[in-house]
Amino acid sequence: MDKFVIEGGVPLHGTVTVSGSKNAALPILFAAILLDDPFTFNNVPRLQDIKTTIKLLELLGIEVEHEEHTVKTRLGNLLPEAPYDLVRTMRASVLCLGPLLTRLGRARVSLPGGCAIGARPVDQHLKGLEQMGARFDLDGGDIIGRAHKLHGAKISFDLTTVGGTENLLMAAVLAEGETILENAAREPEVVDLANFLVSCGANIKGQGTSVIHIEGVKALHGLNYAIMPDRIEAGTFLAAAGITNGKLLLKNCPLADMETVVARLEEMGMDIRNTSDGVLASLGKTGLHGIDVKTQPYPGFPTDMQAQIMALMSIASSTSMIEERIFENRFMHVQELARMGAQIKISGHSAMIRGVPHLIGAQVMASDLRASASLVLAGLAAQGTTHIRRIYHLDRGYEKLEEKLNAVGARITRVSQ
Ligand code: EPZ
Repeated sequence: MDKFVIEGGVPLHGTVTVSGSKNAALPILFAAILLDDPFTFNNVPRLQDIKTTIKLLELLGIEVEHEEHTVKTRLGNLLPEAPYDLVRTMRASVLCLGPLLTRLGRARVSLPGGCAIGARPVDQHLKGLEQMGARFDLDGGDIIGRAHKLHGAKISFDLTTVGGTENLLMAAVLAEGETILENAAREPEVVDLANFLVSCGANIKGQGTSVIHIEGVKALHGLNYAIMPDRIEAGTFLAAAGITNGKLLLKNCPLADMETVVARLEEMGMDIRNTSDGVLASLGKTGLHGIDVKTQPYPGFPTDMQAQIMALMSIASSTSMIEERIFENRFMHVQELARMGAQIKISGHSAMIRGVPHLIGAQVMASDLRASASLVLAGLAAQGTTHIRRIYHLDRGYEKLEEKLNAVGARITRVSQ
């Protein structure tokens, strides 16, 4: 298992390029199951989760070629089984359920277990698919789905779910008749999936709002599509500029999808401006001060930026509050930040962060993807050396993070253990 060794205290200066979005690429690659023709996906980030998705697509009978940021798929002999060994390493594998059911009328997908940040059930996915005519049994931890032919339905989610919206969107594009998704997720990654499907001939209206209308079509055809940039990776780089008191120019930064994140970082005292060369981020004259943040579905503050902004808050000149409203256990980074001198008190779903003048390097442990990013940010700012173990969590969702940060002055070494 690799670890990072970070010599902190260096302000970052230079240009970083934002990669394609993990959370757009995953559902879009699973939508390859819906296509009859060979297809080319561009701007696909090089991540562990992408490799896992490709392995699963190949197991399902899709031929895949993958080099650099391009993935080419060609439909082979589709098989309906997503095995536990793969699903347990990546919960997003459940996104093959909708496409398999609408293509093949059957699917056997291992029920994703919980993960570090929460139970993460998929009841809304199954409930919506049942309304479209699917029937499910549970056998040895696998969900077995059958559907003669999925038909349109009016589905009202009990809560806003990104994956649930994506699964039902993919199921509905080839189903018979009209499907309406109410209380649908509005995340930019859901919109990117919908835009990709529309580019292949799907009939979708309302993506990006909480009511999406889909009219099923007979088949989907297309040649290629470029994945949107990753707004969470971009937000992490903005935070890196702030926490190190540096100045970073972000290329391919999807600013239009980051309004709430940018607004909150500016409220903390960051200076973020859109220029003809890209997005320029630095600390304003008054330094960092505390704010209150509540994570919410888009367009609210994203839960995937919660751990990162907490690292920033830990060295602000005043106190901040964070309320984590999406996941039940997404404060695993708190105890690790505390080992570096952060003053954080958790009470239920809320955390109070009293800013300290500086953090001190320590041995810490990554627990999940965004917690890892938070510890990297803290290590960049801390005085002394920080060792971050289990960095494989980071490799799932950040492409060449240490290379990108070292190119702008960071001193990160990856050490194999
Ligand atoms: C997606 O996960 C993202 N993953 C997550 O990013 C992100 O944190 C999350 O959306 C929220 O924005 C991908 O897109 C691959 P949800 P997803 O369904 O779809 C509950 C990262 O760091 N829920 O919107 O699994 C669920 O337990 C990852 O990149 C149900 O109760 O999230 C959670 O509390 C982490 N029943 C809430 O809804 C369901 O059927 C939001 O989950 C589905 C969800």
